[in-house]
Amino acid sequence: MTTVRVGLGDRSYDVVIESGLLARAGDLLAPLSRGRAMAVVADANVAPHLEALRLSMAAAGIASEAIVLPPGEGTKSWAQLASLTDRLIELGVERGDHVIALGGGVIGDLVGFACSILKRGCGFVQVPTTLLAQVDSSVGGKTAINTPAGKNLVGAFHQPALVLIDPQVLDTLPPRDLRAGYAEVVKYGLIDDPDFFAWCEENAPALLAGDVSAREHAIAHSVAAKARIVGADERETTGTRALLNLGHTFGHALEAEVGFSDRLLHGEGVAAGMALAYGFSAAQGLAPPADAARVVAHLKAIGLPHDLASAGIHASGATLVAHMLHDKKMDAGTLPFLLARGIGRTYLDKSVDLAAVAAFLDESGARG
Ligand code: GLY
Repeated sequence: MTTVRVGLGDRSYDVVIESGLLARAGDLLAPLSRGRAMAVVADANVAPHLEALRLSMAAAGIASEAIVLPPGEGTKSWAQLASLTDRLIELGVERGDHVIALGGGVIGDLVGFACSILKRGCGFVQVPTTLLAQVDSSVGGKTAINTPAGKNLVGAFHQPALVLIDPQVLDTLPPRDLRAGYAEVVKYGLIDDPDFFAWCEENAPALLAGDVSAREHAIAHSVAAKARIVGADERETTGTRALLNLGHTFGHALEAEVGFSDRLLHGEGVAAGMALAYGFSAAQGLAPPADAARVVAHLKAIGLPHDLASAGIHASGATLVAHMLHDKKMDAGTLPFLLARGIGRTYLDKSVDLAAVAAFLDESGARG
């Protein structure tokens, strides 16, 4: 078992990582239950995990009320937020209670946001069931829903009280989702940890094939990196937390081009986006071309999109840059980019010339 502490003063909390943890989650939840029933919100895809969690809660003497929502990004909506908060109020959830979010990023984001406003803020626990949620969205307190104008446009910073990660639940995750989540693992190496990137190059095949210790190591290392970054810049005000957006500006443009559809999963967009961020950095003379080539080679080797063609994108550079201008990271009319001076040497650049980005994307598209 590994426990990572997210250090945020009186909002600090533990992230507990262990294979098989779901079966003993009840013991860890008991101190938060206050002898009352706890609501567990899940999506229909994780029914077996919901059953296992409720059994372990029952064994620890905790009654539970299950709320099962439809799977998919469409659930992060005003309508689902309204019906979820109504249901939690109906169940008598109090400000001192903790609601459990069991699922991927959609459930975690929706439940976290509902708990940020319910009775002006109640507690919640994240039990993430996808690799992407385990290494990224369940830690750090970003919560949100989508609106017709875009993704994650309405939300709040609201930290969970506890995060319980059972890598074993990944055994039932579709391989494509597992690979997409892995993009967020390798991101931590590319941000500021070249040794971890080298570890990823060596161990990704085992991790993706189901090796338990590789999974536990990758998740614990990623969570520790995220905890360090969130502890330094919880609300993304100093630029440190912005490093977590590596690959996201290019990735956002690719996701927008396919209408945020299943044609390109978020993690796949991030993978291609990281390769493009490194490629652009090399093209600008900032990073050694060999480092950019190493990023592409790794992503390619494990079957992730690593350029425009492998992401299925055939749009012009101007079209993709136009998508970027709708990115919610726009700041006073400028778009900050995460660029790199080499593997593990990512930095925030606020003076990127968008015409140069468009020209680079046109050239990349032509090469692909
Ligand atoms: N997923 C990026 C962040 O938590 O800041």
